[in-house]
Amino acid sequence: MATDSNKFQAIIAHCKEYGFIFPSSEIYDGLGAVYDYGQWGAELKKNIKDHWWHSMTRMYENIVGIDAAIFMHPTTWKASGHVDNFSDPMIDNKDSNKRYRVDHLIEAKASELEGEGHAEQAEILLKQMDELLAADDLAGLRTLIETNRIACAVSGTVNWTDVRQFNLMFSTEFGAVSSDTEDNKIYLRPETAQGIFVNFLNVQKTGRMKIPFGIAQIGKAFRNEIVARQFIFRMREFEQMEMQFFVRPGTQKQWYEFWKEERMKWHLALGISPDKYRFHDHVKLAHYADAACDIEYDFPIGFKEVEGIHSRTDFDLKQHQEFSKKKMQYFDNDIDPETGKPYGNYIPYVVETSIGVDRTVMLLLSEAYEEQDLSTEERADSRVVLKLPAKLAPIKLAVLPLVKKDGLPEIARGILDDCKAHFKCFYEEKDTIGKRYRRMDALGTPFCVTVDHQSKEDGTVTIRYRDTMQQERVPLASLREMVLREIA
Ligand code: GAP
Repeated sequence: MATDSNKFQAIIAHCKEYGFIFPSSEIYDGLGAVYDYGQWGAELKKNIKDHWWHSMTRMYENIVGIDAAIFMHPTTWKASGHVDNFSDPMIDNKDSNKRYRVDHLIEAKASELEGEGHAEQAEILLKQMDELLAADDLAGLRTLIETNRIACAVSGTVNWTDVRQFNLMFSTEFGAVSSDTEDNKIYLRPETAQGIFVNFLNVQKTGRMKIPFGIAQIGKAFRNEIVARQFIFRMREFEQMEMQFFVRPGTQKQWYEFWKEERMKWHLALGISPDKYRFHDHVKLAHYADAACDIEYDFPIGFKEVEGIHSRTDFDLKQHQEFSKKKMQYFDNDIDPETGKPYGNYIPYVVETSIGVDRTVMLLLSEAYEEQDLSTEERADSRVVLKLPAKLAPIKLAVLPLVKKDGLPEIARGILDDCKAHFKCFYEEKDTIGKRYRRMDALGTPFCVTVDHQSKEDGTVTIRYRDTMQQERVPLASLREMVLREIA
């Protein structure tokens, strides 16, 4: 049975073996902290995104969704503060003038130590680095490099500068002409939120939205992460599901509390126990926030952030107003009971909910993954099962003819034809039925139906439930509705 510390590794191996997640460009030895979703991972991820999208844009009538471009005008990131503040530490060697990312330098030393058989020392070094990074302790990082005699690969010396911040945004060149100037430099967005802020008035006006209202978005974000050794937990290319909720100034605290509660309800509605979650209030607030917290989940690597709820004040809209010289104001004609007059023009305040798609995948896999010992006195047996919520499972129904003859495949194909337009089905006739059940357990398929000779006689099939492994005979004609009920 996997313990918590090796459960994480077991999940990574399972994801690769069963077509959920692969290292990116693996044939070239992969790319650090970049991953590809395989056939079943892509289905799971899409189901999560659809579920979130529907929860936001259907269940709240005052929330609409958009899909903004990844590339944005470079001034966006000046205005948002990302050009100046979104950074991680780096260091220069004074003799070679070569610049290193502090984490790369220390990680290289750790690999060297490991190669020399000092795995424990390597682990301590990485742990110390992670702690110093988390504490923003730049002087401490320099001391760590010096005391461990980490030398520059070019000069061979430990003559280092102070540690300075390194921006986490990826940049590229826009247009056909490449130049050394900053003129055509643009960034890959590090958060989807800014696409919402710059479209605030477009959506408000064309959608005739009245405050309070929200704009939701799902999309890719990119960060040149400094500590990136945690599978899909910390990636350099990842996806976010964000919602910016625009409110009247002075009401932000109340909406912040509202969204904390709503988002926690969303998590619990996935069928996960409340003691697997906790709120973590930010003590050190970002310059734009007047309140912020994380929703943390108890991953196999400990309690970690899966979602952030941030009261971002009017910072972003105000900044965009200043940098673009375009008004970012809303006219509120509701009557202020204190003055008896309309609230009038103001820049709205924003409460944001921001959840990582990939971290939600990781959360669901952590929650669902079970290694079960099914041994009896007669024989040893075990299975790995993913107890994913039926609604989110990549495959909903597996259709399995007991044998490849006697007209059973034809009946099974009939079931498939009846169901495949409504939910994802999977047909398989190879291997013993036991092996096929085990494979479906490992993919998290909640329902398997077996077509046997009795099906020909009385139109019933055996349905097998993934979690309990119980089986019962049901009329073939009732299958589609039954599955639809379970995944609603
Ligand atoms: N707009 C606010 C924002 O981006 P954040 O706390 O930096 O806030 C929000 O990110 C969420 O995005 C996190 O809670 C996490 O789920 C996800 N996320 C952030 N960085 C990530 C990374 N490198 N890899 C995977 N997910 C990440």
